[in-house]
Amino acid sequence: MKISVIGCGYLGTVHAACMTELGHDVVGIDVDAAKIELLAAGRPPFFEPGLPEMLTSAMATGRLSFRTDIAAVEGAQVHFIAVGTPQLGDSFAADLTFVDAAVEAIVPHLRPGDLVVGKSTVPVGTAARLAEVVRESGASLAWNPEFLREGFAVKDTLAPDRLVYGIESDDSSAEALLDAVYATALAAGTPKVVTDFATAELVKVAANAFLATKISFINAMAEVAEATGADVTQLADAIGYDARIGRRFLNAGLGFGGGCLPKDIRGFMARAEELGVDQALSFLREVDSINLRRRERMVDLAAEVVGGAVAGKRIAILGLAFKPDSDDVRDSPALDVAQRLGELGALVVATDPEAVETSRRRHPELAYVSSPEEAVRGADAVLLLTEWKQYRELDPGALGSLVAHRAIVDGRNCLDPVAWRKAGWHYRALGRP
Ligand code: UDX
Repeated sequence: MKISVIGCGYLGTVHAACMTELGHDVVGIDVDAAKIELLAAGRPPFFEPGLPEMLTSAMATGRLSFRTDIAAVEGAQVHFIAVGTPQLGDSFAADLTFVDAAVEAIVPHLRPGDLVVGKSTVPVGTAARLAEVVRESGASLAWNPEFLREGFAVKDTLAPDRLVYGIESDDSSAEALLDAVYATALAAGTPKVVTDFATAELVKVAANAFLATKISFINAMAEVAEATGADVTQLADAIGYDARIGRRFLNAGLGFGGGCLPKDIRGFMARAEELGVDQALSFLREVDSINLRRRERMVDLAAEVVGGAVAGKRIAILGLAFKPDSDDVRDSPALDVAQRLGELGALVVATDPEAVETSRRRHPELAYVSSPEEAVRGADAVLLLTEWKQYRELDPGALGSLVAHRAIVDGRNCLDPVAWRKAGWHYRALGRP
C-alpha cells in the first residue's frame, strides 16, 4: 500500500516507520522542518526504545521518506492523521486546531477512492464532522484509534492488542483498505472491532479513563494506608491475584502523567459536559484530584524527611520523565515535584537518563546533572520519582557514602525498604509504613 502519515510526533513517526517495516510505501509529513530534517537523516527527534533501529532499517528499504510539503501525500491511497490534540490553555477541552488544519491541508490532494484515517485522540463527534469535509473530494474517512504506550511504541504498533475501525455503514472499501494496511497483524490473529465513528472515538478515551481510574484507585488506597499503617504494595499484590481485578496498573506512587492520560480524561469530561452527560463522568474529576494530591504528598514527605521545611535543603531528584524509558516530561509528576520544591526554596539537583534536556527546556531554573552519583552528592534527601531500571538497582551502601543525610523517599514503590533501612537509610514511601 502507498501510505501517508500527517504529523511526525511520537505516534506518527513510529507509525510511519512500522508501516514501512510491514512492507508499505510511506511518506511522513510534518510542518516542523527541523524535525523532518532529523527524520530524513534517520534520527528520531525523541527517545523511544527500538525506534532508531527501526527507522534505520525502514529508511534502508528506500520506501520511507519524510517531507514538509503536503503535496507529497499525492499518490498515497491511505492517509493517516497523527497530529496532536493537546489540552486547550484555558479549559479542559482538547485543542483540535492541528487535526482540523491537517484535514483541510490534505483535502485538495485527495483522489476519489482515497481513505483518510484519523488516529489522533479526539472528542466524540469529530469524525462525523470531518467526514463531511473529506467527502467533498470523493475520498472517505475512517477513525482508527491507537493504543500505543511510550516505551513500547514499536511493539504496540507492530503487534497491537486490538484493531478498532470506526467507519460509515455504507463504506465497504474503508474496511478492505484498513485490512490491507494491517494484513500482518490480522494474519497473526489480532482481534478487530468494526464499528461506527462515535464508538471508535469513545473506545480510546474510555480505555484511558479506565486506566487512569485504576491508578487513582490504588493511590486512594495509598492515602488510606498512610492513615492506618497499612502497606499499599502488599494490598495491590493481594487484590491483584483476583483475575477480575488484575495486578497491572495497580502500582501506587506519584501517579500518572504524560501526553495522554491527564489531558484525555479532562477532554472526556469537557465533551461529556457539552453533551449534557457530565454527571456520568464526574468521578473522573476525583480521579484527577487523587492523582494531583500525590504530588502534594510527595512534597510534604520531602519536607518531613529533611526536618520540617525544604528551604535551603539540598534535594536530589532521581527521575524526571513521566515514566521510565521515555524522555517525555509532558505533565510529568516527577518534574512537577522538582519544580514545586524549587519554588519552596530547596536546592534541587535533578537527573534522568534521558529527560534532562526536555526538562531543562521547561524549567531552566533547576540544576541538572548527568548521573545519580552527582545528584546525591551532599544531599539532605533523595527523592526517587521515576522508576528507571538503573535507579531501582542502585546500591544503598555506595550511595549512602555520597549523601549528607541518608534519607530517601521512594515515589514509585520500587526499592526494597529492608535493604535500604539495613544500609542505614531513613526510607519513606507513598502508601507504605
Ligand atoms: C497511555 C496508555 O497506556 C496508552 O494505551 C495510550 O495509547 C496512551 O496513554 P502512556 O502515556 O505511554 O500510555 O503511559 P502508561 O504506560 O499508560 O503510563 C501512564 C502514567 O501512569 C505514567 O506516568 C506511569 O508512571 C503511571 N502509572 C502507570 C502508575 O502510576 N501506576 C501504574 O500502575 C501504571
